[in-house]
Amino acid sequence: MEQKNKREMFSTGFAIFFATLGSAVGLGNIWKFPYLLGTNGGGAFLLVYLLCVVLVGIPIMACEFYIGRKARKNAVGAFKKLKASKGWRTIGFMGVASAFLIAFFYSCVAGWVYSYVFKAIRGDLVGVTSVTAKSKFMSTLIGPFSPLIWQLIVLIVVSVILIAGVKKGIERITKTLMPVLFVLIIICDIRALTLPGASQGLKFLFHVDFSQLTGPVILAALGLSFFKLSLGMGTMITYGSYFTKDNNMIATSIKVALSDSLISILAGIAIFPAVFSFGMKPSEGPGLLFMTIPLVFSKIPFGNILLVAFFFLTAIAATTAMISMVQVAVAYFSEERGMGRVKSVLFPTSIMMIVGILATLSADPTSILSNIHVLGQKGFFDSFDYLSSNILLPVGGLLIAIYVGYFAKKEDFKLELSNQGTLNNDFVLNIIFVFIKYISPLLLVIVFLNSIGFIKF
Ligand code: TRP
Repeated sequence: MEQKNKREMFSTGFAIFFATLGSAVGLGNIWKFPYLLGTNGGGAFLLVYLLCVVLVGIPIMACEFYIGRKARKNAVGAFKKLKASKGWRTIGFMGVASAFLIAFFYSCVAGWVYSYVFKAIRGDLVGVTSVTAKSKFMSTLIGPFSPLIWQLIVLIVVSVILIAGVKKGIERITKTLMPVLFVLIIICDIRALTLPGASQGLKFLFHVDFSQLTGPVILAALGLSFFKLSLGMGTMITYGSYFTKDNNMIATSIKVALSDSLISILAGIAIFPAVFSFGMKPSEGPGLLFMTIPLVFSKIPFGNILLVAFFFLTAIAATTAMISMVQVAVAYFSEERGMGRVKSVLFPTSIMMIVGILATLSADPTSILSNIHVLGQKGFFDSFDYLSSNILLPVGGLLIAIYVGYFAKKEDFKLELSNQGTLNNDFVLNIIFVFIKYISPLLLVIVFLNSIGFIKF
């Protein structure tokens, strides 16, 4: 940042792609996607998830980029700048609220990943069996101090990078390390596919059993598509505000969504064959990643080094994703509330740490907090997750689609997404607009009505 009032920007199209992918790729692909797929019936969930990405995710991502780059503002300020009536700023406020809700549990899981890097370096995970892999995960959850300290370390790392600035911080890290993560997942896949009984895992992942598709499963897939692509809360509005004028934002949306889904599927290929080969259950829950990956790397040459690298890169992916989430709050506090650079970072991250304690301790089966129910049967951790992914993000996405489809000028949308007409992509723009105006909102409403039991299918 050269001058105080000059906004930073990503420098090239390449950097934009990787930074945006750096926001999308994170624990969502490596931790949440496999565990939700495992608890929601496998291939059918994957199919619905992919449909949500294409029919809802890509159009809404394009909307967010449009709003962000046109306004060049944070998620709340953007609606002001575009002269939308006051109510639309609610989207921005809901976004800031979601950033907090997600960060409460995301920092906890990122802490587990950091602790696994350390465990792998110490050689603690050498020679694990399916039984010891499980007990090692359980002991990671037990606090109060150790999981909280890891969570604190995560938040300190995130704060330091955010204080260093968008360009220097986010751009450099994502551009260099994302490709390495990709290669490591592929190595993991090759190993997983050569395990005895691997085909059963593939069948679970890809075989579509339509009887599994219930309302809650569909809502979970929809929620995951928002969470995965960092949509519905202004992250992509904020990122779009740093894009260059000549970026083809429709192409960026499609490339990011497809690459991100590919990484999720590759993570699934690494995990499910191992689940079956080692006699575990796919419905193991949030521990699935932590119980299977050490097994995948056990008994192969350099297994422990690969394991260290795997968790290290997952930690990086989790950190860059988290940066983009926290950035929504930081941009709001600095641009709308006039806080300085350091304060606008430390204020939200401190709240995330304090309330995040509830999420972390509620995941510890020995803690009294694990017995407290917040929403129905859900404890703090699951309630933060459910409220953000399944409610706030899709509602935010619905409002964004309605704003762009019905309240903003179609001409403005077309001008911005065609780079003032220089891209000649009228055809694609018209299709995307039909999605935004009719298809995505309709799907969102149907899924909601279904999940609250208003309509049944
Ligand atoms: N997409 C990230 C992941 O899959 C998580 C994330 C980062 C996020 N920023 C976000 C989710 C904003 C929702 C909104 O891990």
